[in-house]
Amino acid sequence: QHISGRPFTRWTLTTYDDTLFVLRDHRFVRELRNALPAEKVPSVPDSIRSLSESQQNTMLFRDPPDHTRLRSLINKAFTPRIIRHLEPRIHDIAKHLLNEFEQGTKLDIVRSFAFPLPVIVIAELLGVPVEDRELFKEWSNAFVRTLDIRPSMETLLHGNQVTIDFREYFRNIVRERTKHPKEDLISELIHVRESGDRLSEDELLDMCILILMAGHETTVNLIANAIYLMTQHPDQQLLLRNHQGLMKSAVEEVLRFESPVQVTGRTVKEDFEYNGQLLSRGDFVNVWISAANRDPKVFNNPDTFDITRQNNRHLAFGQGIHYCLGAPLARQEGAIALSSLINKFSSLNLSTSQVQWIPSLLMRSLKELVIEI
Ligand code: HEM
Repeated sequence: QHISGRPFTRWTLTTYDDTLFVLRDHRFVRELRNALPAEKVPSVPDSIRSLSESQQNTMLFRDPPDHTRLRSLINKAFTPRIIRHLEPRIHDIAKHLLNEFEQGTKLDIVRSFAFPLPVIVIAELLGVPVEDRELFKEWSNAFVRTLDIRPSMETLLHGNQVTIDFREYFRNIVRERTKHPKEDLISELIHVRESGDRLSEDELLDMCILILMAGHETTVNLIANAIYLMTQHPDQQLLLRNHQGLMKSAVEEVLRFESPVQVTGRTVKEDFEYNGQLLSRGDFVNVWISAANRDPKVFNNPDTFDITRQNNRHLAFGQGIHYCLGAPLARQEGAIALSSLINKFSSLNLSTSQVQWIPSLLMRSLKELVIEI
């Protein structure tokens, strides 16, 4: 119930301008307690407390000043310059994965390529064993499902258990790495924590969970959707093969056309009028990135997949203070994945005319993508 006694409104905004406005304006916040008086903030049931705490400990769900503090601790590790240093290693991983494939076979490219590539990269960056990747997949999937629009109680309960397991996993690694530091992100974060009081222990563990999860779930979709779109648009595939200078703009077009993250949300912090509607404190606003990225006012022929598209100002990585931390890494992984595949195999074709998308409003994820090589 709203402070005035009436129910809160849930708004759905789908245009480019509205999405940009919400993501950039400080009157839309992440933390409910910054929008509502304490007595109006609903209490979290014990059965999902770990999940809720873990999410709220991360920069993604915080407002300034905590958002600024958390993000500044890790920002430096993801600058385009630092990420460029990873290029040879990402090429090696892609090459190694592709060498396992045999010409003339059918295989699920999500499982054999789109998933392992980003998960190996982020695991190495963080400093967690790559061999645990099936575990990360299971946990991350469960965690991401809790972020979908209106998750069921069952999903939340499962997410809570997974959070407990995830935290325990990282607690052990942090313990070990505190004794024996290495050259990885976890050791760096431990060092930051020891040299001041800017990061609590739980925030450290939850930051690791966020980076591991955000660092691969979405990029798997970028790579898989890129391959899928190439199979659906043979003219664009051929164009890319013949003009590989278009690789970067092809990745941007994939991000626009099949945005891996489809929607996000914010809470209204104060009453104000917008486009003739009264937004009230505590209302919830969903902005549809996927729809904004097909807004005909901004993109000519928005439903055409065109890898030569100019001035592609898509919002696939969000906007404003929460703009994706991993955008340079995701872009680099997407470009390397696509160029490695195209150069290794003379054509990419789907083995069936039907593909299955995972039922989710949050993520644009293919369940599998069986291709013939
Ligand atoms: C934030 C998309 C890859 C880490 C975001 C947001 C979007 C997004 C839309 C903003 C959400 C919001 O404002 O509500 C994507 C897509 C990716 C991708 C489409 C791949 C194609 C990555 C990678 C990392 C990462 C590789 C690895 C580090 C993060 C983090 C945030 C974030 C930490 C929170 C930033 C903040 O709150 O300040 N991402 N992401 N993402 N992303 Fe990504």
